[in-house]
Amino acid sequence: NMKKNIAVILGDGIGPEVTQQSIKVLNAVAEYYGHDFNYKFCLMGADAIDKTGNPLPDETIEVCLESDAILFGAIGDPKYDNDPNAKVRPEQGLLKIRKVLQLYGNIRPTTIYPSLQHLSPLNPKHLEDVDLVIYRELTGGIYFGKKETSADGNSATDTCTYSVEEIERIAHLAFKAAQIRRKKLTLIDKANVLETSRLWRKVVQGLAIQYTDVTVDYMFVDNAAMQMILNPKQFDVILTENMFGDIISDEASVLNGSLGLAPSASVGNITALFEPIHGSYPQAAGKDIANPIGCILSAAMMLDYFGLHKEANKVRAAVSWTLDNKFVTKDIDPINFYFTSTLGELIADYVGNKIVGEVN
Ligand code: IPM
Ligand code: MN
Repeated sequence: NMKKNIAVILGDGIGPEVTQQSIKVLNAVAEYYGHDFNYKFCLMGADAIDKTGNPLPDETIEVCLESDAILFGAIGDPKYDNDPNAKVRPEQGLLKIRKVLQLYGNIRPTTIYPSLQHLSPLNPKHLEDVDLVIYRELTGGIYFGKKETSADGNSATDTCTYSVEEIERIAHLAFKAAQIRRKKLTLIDKANVLETSRLWRKVVQGLAIQYTDVTVDYMFVDNAAMQMILNPKQFDVILTENMFGDIISDEASVLNGSLGLAPSASVGNITALFEPIHGSYPQAAGKDIANPIGCILSAAMMLDYFGLHKEANKVRAAVSWTLDNKFVTKDIDPINFYFTSTLGELIADYVGNKIVGEVN
């Protein structure tokens, strides 16, 4: 029996709809396995700007700091995207919470589902045996370097900086993950051009001596973008800096057929945040058609983080069961689809062993 305090940030667009499904599933876990999950709802993103003027109110930071974990839906609103002069942006909330909570390790696994292979833009023969996880550094690099626009507005600068310590702490996570997987680590960088990338290589080469059971290889990011499509099964654990990780993880998420399926965990030393990697998908907001699986699998990663592996595996089994039985949302089957809320209930019922006989 475990008692956990979970901060919930519904966020923007489809965020609230998908997060509610994760809560249904977590509640089913709590009921079936005898745990106690308490939720505290707080604001971030465009929703927070609308209500308070601030993309990350102090109260949200306080609630998150006191939580055992944070569940988060999505961020972003098109009304800010095309306004380069906007003073506040929803994304500032997410970047700031990552920084304040020191969530330096962003973990993004890619799982291939046999029943969805036809949806992938890749030839199925390239998808067999694909099983990779990206360890993206999340609180450094060009995202957080000094930014400025010159007084005359004719130039702008973003600075990319990394310290040895920032590289080491995420590299340790990635090496440890490789040790319990297929023991291969690929560092993605641009060491033929960038000074920060050369530091990454040096640090990773230094640490490799401590992890002799792990094979390390090094790949330039342009080549890696190509290899992700040509031969994704070569990857086991990918380690990379913040912006390269952002780009490569979106690319990896199309391998299995829908961006809506991909979960992520952001970890540090204080608490951890779990969110689907998709955005706020404003066109679908409020229609009950978004895919809740990315968010539900993020909740499964949260259960693993709590040490509740049996429960996490049950949630993943429930997801596979829905996909195998064509209980899918509109992104997967535009004709015969189930609603977001229905899928959430089915997965929760499966987790609580409430599915009997035929469903329909
Ligand atoms: C992500 C998102 C964010 C990022 C944005 C919303 C700031 O794309 O989590 O991948 O770039 O990190
Ligand atoms: Mn991204």
